[in-house]
Amino acid sequence: MKLYEICFSPTGGTAKVSHILSKEWDCAAEWIDLTKQDLELPRLCEDDVCIISVPSYAGRVPSLAAERIGRLKGNGAIAVLAVVYGNRAYEDTLLELKDLLMKDGFHCAAAVAAVAEHSIVREIAVGRPDEQDQVELTAFARKIRLALENGGLGDDVTVPGNRPYRETRPSALKPVPGESCVRCGLCAKNCPAGAISPKNPFEVCFESCIACMRCVSICPRHARVLDSEKLAALTAHLAAPCAVRKENECFL
Ligand SMILES: Cc1cc2nc3c(=O)[nH]c(=O)nc-3n(C[C@H](O)[C@H](O)[C@H](O)COP(=O)(O)O)c2cc1C
Repeated sequence: MKLYEICFSPTGGTAKVSHILSKEWDCAAEWIDLTKQDLELPRLCEDDVCIISVPSYAGRVPSLAAERIGRLKGNGAIAVLAVVYGNRAYEDTLLELKDLLMKDGFHCAAAVAAVAEHSIVREIAVGRPDEQDQVELTAFARKIRLALENGGLGDDVTVPGNRPYRETRPSALKPVPGESCVRCGLCAKNCPAGAISPKNPFEVCFESCIACMRCVSICPRHARVLDSEKLAALTAHLAAPCAVRKENECFL
């Protein structure tokens, strides 16, 4: 058996959840980074366990992640699904992820929904996954590992969500380069969508940009910025639905 972490995590919250879950297995995991444009996909077999995690964008799997997940060949490998969201809601994300993985030929044995800091409105769910989340997610992972070891997860897991999935519209909040940009090219090199010109970071293909906030989070000069009025409007819009701490969930 080999353990894989297959993860799409533009700003690191989803990766944190994936690492907490994977620690429960007593072996080193191979990290497959779905944000990479030059992605090398693993050859999987029935004995393998894959923790496959994505963030929720507008209650759906991010389109770019869905496209890359669609290229995986499960060959009967066991998938532990993880959807990570910013304390609003994840709606159809787990169901869409499960449908994608079933189509790839995975056995979807278990699923987790977890909360991490909101990657656009950073003051929502700030610091999550925190210590309480770590304890809960570790307990989920233990339950899943023991069930797998005891052969107790025969059927594909049932997860919440509806078909047809929620309609998505491209996000209106796309980061733009600001005055402090020194054209170092770090954002272009790390953009999951290849939306920023490596020669000129002021040139952005807004059609390709998925508003994942990778460029905002990695720029050492904080030179990629969001329109402040739109950000304030989103912050106000999310205040009520995000006011209460949402719980992590485990589905077996
Ligand atoms: C474009 C976009 C859409 C998002 N939509 C939602 C959402 O519908 N519900 C929610 O709770 N969080 C939402 N979030 C927050 C992310 O799901 C959350 O912060 C996640 O942890 C980000 O993952 P990452 O840190 O691995 O990039 C959204 C974030 C982005 C960038």
